[in-house]
Amino acid sequence: MQEYDLVLRISPQEIEQQVERIAARINQDSAGQNLFVIGILKGSWMFCADLIRHLQMPVEIDFVRLASYGMETATCGEIRITKDIETPIGGRDVLVVEDIVDSGTTLAWYVDYLRKFQPASVRICALIDKYERRSVEVPLDYVCFRTEKGFLVGYGLDYAERHRNLPGIYEVQFSQ
Ligand code: IMP
Ligand code: MG
Repeated sequence: MQEYDLVLRISPQEIEQQVERIAARINQDSAGQNLFVIGILKGSWMFCADLIRHLQMPVEIDFVRLASYGMETATCGEIRITKDIETPIGGRDVLVVEDIVDSGTTLAWYVDYLRKFQPASVRICALIDKYERRSVEVPLDYVCFRTEKGFLVGYGLDYAERHRNLPGIYEVQFSQ
């Protein structure tokens, strides 16, 4: 594997602030609902865990795991579900929680798939909107951080399964 350094981009304190800000908006928008939160594994589990602790309406949580036949650092082509949610979502108010949206391929595919089960509503919450390579339009209702580009790890995000446990978010800088 190519050598690399990690450079801190977002501190744990900044993450905490943004998570609280986004949770407050969700609390406003979804007051009175029974929210069905779907976390996309593995990347979003830490974000989900923090986010739902600030939600004030009744919340159910489930997880889906999606696999794409992509390269190490980019999604391309076919997506499939390798672990599905275990509760029917027909008529439910759904909040999909994703770690980072890059090309948009993964999330757009999944939201399209979910709509076939006729949920009452589907909203999307992303920890990071990485917009430079967006090739598929996907409406992000809640975003904690926006960045143009760069490969990020930590707070759930990985590079080849490494660094998910870091409390802050770091950019991977490859040595020349
Ligand atoms: P997309 O389908 O191109 O939007 O890719 C989204 C998925 O690729 C995310 O759910 C991540 O799993 C992964 N991904 C994209 N960018 C990064 C990154 O900077 N760090 C870690 N994972 C990433
Ligand atoms: Mg992901």
